[in-house]
Amino acid sequence: MLLKTAKPASLMRRRKSYPASGVRVSEIISALSYALDLTEGRPMGHSVRSCLIGMRIAEQIGMSVHERGELFYALLLKDAGCSSNSSKLFHIISADEIRAKRDVKLTDWTRVGWESLQYALTHVATGAPFLERVGTLVRVAAKQQTESCELVKIRCERGATIARRLGFSEPIAQAIHSLDEHWNGGGYPDGLRGTEIPLYSRIMNLSQTLEVFLVNHGREAAIAVAEKRNRRWFDPDLVKAAQSLAKDGSLWIDLDREQVIDKVLYLEPEHTRLPAGEETIENICQAFAEIIDAKSPFTYRHSNGVADAAVAISRQLALDTEDVVFMRRVALLHDVGKLGVSNSILEKPAKLDDREWASVKRHPFYSYEILHKIPGFEDLSEVAGAHHEKLDGSGYYRGWDAEKLSLEMRIIAVADIYDALAAKRPYRDAMPLEKVFEIMRKDAPQALDAGCLEALIAHHESGTPTSQDLLGLSAGVGQNKVQLTSEKKHVSPVPVH
Ligand SMILES: [Fe+2]
Ligand SMILES: [Fe+2]
Repeated sequence: MLLKTAKPASLMRRRKSYPASGVRVSEIISALSYALDLTEGRPMGHSVRSCLIGMRIAEQIGMSVHERGELFYALLLKDAGCSSNSSKLFHIISADEIRAKRDVKLTDWTRVGWESLQYALTHVATGAPFLERVGTLVRVAAKQQTESCELVKIRCERGATIARRLGFSEPIAQAIHSLDEHWNGGGYPDGLRGTEIPLYSRIMNLSQTLEVFLVNHGREAAIAVAEKRNRRWFDPDLVKAAQSLAKDGSLWIDLDREQVIDKVLYLEPEHTRLPAGEETIENICQAFAEIIDAKSPFTYRHSNGVADAAVAISRQLALDTEDVVFMRRVALLHDVGKLGVSNSILEKPAKLDDREWASVKRHPFYSYEILHKIPGFEDLSEVAGAHHEKLDGSGYYRGWDAEKLSLEMRIIAVADIYDALAAKRPYRDAMPLEKVFEIMRKDAPQALDAGCLEALIAHHESGTPTSQDLLGLSAGVGQNKVQLTSEKKHVSPVPVH
């Protein structure tokens, strides 16, 4: 339907009260771990399934309930730093880095031989002309060791920082930091050996490898790879524990279930089953916004920029504080599905082909899918999933039109486009606001909501400092029930150009 005149849209009729009362920290983290799986090229549920395997191994070796509580979160957040090296990896190999990340988990990259050569041949500069490809292959081979170490270092340091920022304990942060260390000292980033490697990390490395081979090649192959890499990659006592659990079949129970997330939540020790207070939810949203934005220098600070704009519009439209907080969280998480889009697409300097466009168009669907898994986030997932919809039905992924788009959906669409145009990008300076609004006004009211756009313009004309408005936004509407870090606001290492 084409809107001739701007008709005021109404707020969604929320199906459930928001914020969700009683939602557990682990329910939010386990659902958001599906986004980390996308970045790693794994089928969604990889982190949750690895967690299930790891918790069973931990129980088998008699780990204390306190330690199992820490291991549980370390396993779910093991890939928290995954997006921070995506751009660098893409530039090193000049090819789809998600595919490279996916397949490296099936390769024994510590041994130079046919397996690693074949990996290089099928993942480096795959679309380039022959000579350029050979040049890239030679360059990658020459620097393989130093660049692999650096890539792992970026990833594990960022992952550990995110865990600390979320208020998790130092052993959890350390476990994430040392995920890629190997029993024989051949891993990264510090070349730790044997019991120098934190026990949690040893369990995590084995669990994720078992999960990857289980999903790709089945149970026998999973145990076979653990045995093959025993004492090289893996702690022999842990391999023994996994063998014993595999023998009676208990290692694999429920891993192929659709509802694997429920199974993993059941294994969380009682003492860490904490409800997420308002401040914790806020921190998790902020941390994941940084994970999303770290994927590419092209999206640097985008989620926070959209959040600022969404809050400004919401306030200008005199929404309740609860609705403003809701909009801020929608904005921080709206592009979580973009973690599944390869940097070879996000950073492509030319027009996208049909396959690449299809991948881009899937990202709001993934945002919806992931956020919908969090109890109480059902409405938030609907709005986040609609951030590329247009009033004339020309948007994606559902092609909804004005009749279906609520006020919240219209706000997020305007805020998203505004930040995309206004923010400074690596390839261009920030666009002057007059120019941004001139471009956006051409799309209102037929594609963009004129009321939301005028609210944003009025906000800028009023000169109200949005970011300061945001401080303490949710402080008055909830209470912090999980110990949170007092660390200063994290600054992404992704360079701003
Ligand atoms: Fe998007
Ligand atoms: Fe966006």
